[in-house]
Amino acid sequence: MRIRKVVFPVAGLGTRFLPASKVVPKEMLPLIDKPLIQYAVEEAVDAGCDTLIFVTNRYKHSIADFYDKSYELEAKLEAAGKHELLSIVRNLLPPGVRAVFVTQPEALGLGHAVLCAKAVVGNEPFAVMLPDDMIWNRGHGALRQMVEIAEEQRASVIAVEDVPREHTNRYGIVSAEPVTETLARLRGVVEKPKPDAAPSTLAIVGRYVLDPRIFELLETTGTGSGGEIQLTDAIATLLREQPVFSYRFTGRRFDCGNRLGMVQATVHLALEDPELHAPVVELMRERLSRE
Ligand code: UTP
Repeated sequence: MRIRKVVFPVAGLGTRFLPASKVVPKEMLPLIDKPLIQYAVEEAVDAGCDTLIFVTNRYKHSIADFYDKSYELEAKLEAAGKHELLSIVRNLLPPGVRAVFVTQPEALGLGHAVLCAKAVVGNEPFAVMLPDDMIWNRGHGALRQMVEIAEEQRASVIAVEDVPREHTNRYGIVSAEPVTETLARLRGVVEKPKPDAAPSTLAIVGRYVLDPRIFELLETTGTGSGGEIQLTDAIATLLREQPVFSYRFTGRRFDCGNRLGMVQATVHLALEDPELHAPVVELMRERLSRE
């Protein structure tokens, strides 16, 4: 078992970033100088994936453009001797990694978006990554950690994170039987439960390694929460048929699907950047002294 394919469902409307997302897909909004989607792509490549499947819609051509070769730009950078920038632009997708684009004709939900990738994924285990969840880690990325477990256990693995109880109604919440400190056997999952009804505070975040059986289950999954076809509903059925594990990854997650998360991630990355660290600390000091 080897995980080679990863699905990026990026066909949502991104209403929380209007008006910017009217023309710029939220996945193309930058954290400093790199679009959100590229952080996820780098994490997928680190995990050993070589086929990146983007589920997009007709308004998101800029994602495909971003991964296309830009002859004019490359020629200009080369002529100007800007080799470092040239290498960044050329290696957005490293050699041997290919991008495939499929469309989701209508935003019918995350589960439906994943189903749109069925023909490209075929009958092999695959990963799903939501670029909104930017996971930063000094060591190997969250997906690489999950792929190792999935290959070892020969089973599906879902990333989870402990969240404050008052936030359970924003996530799919799991009930699970601990195997190790970070790994647990999934027993159940509920979509967006109220805090007092949540079986735990372990929330599903945007990383999954899934058995291809999920596609058949998605085909028969009706609309759930919010009138959309939910991936969590299909996972709830999958775990009745075969082992599914939840995994608490090592790394810091930023929910870049909302404005505050985007600001937090930007500040975090700026403080990690050798060039930006000092001026950003200075700016914060100066600003805080006036608070
Ligand atoms: P969100 O729930 O964040 O929805 O989707 P959204 O449309 O992207 O953003 P808001 O809430 O309007 O601001 C979670 C993930 O599922 C994808 C989104 O692109 C995002 O990566 N998705 C959602 C689809 O690809 N298709 C859908 O029909 C729904």
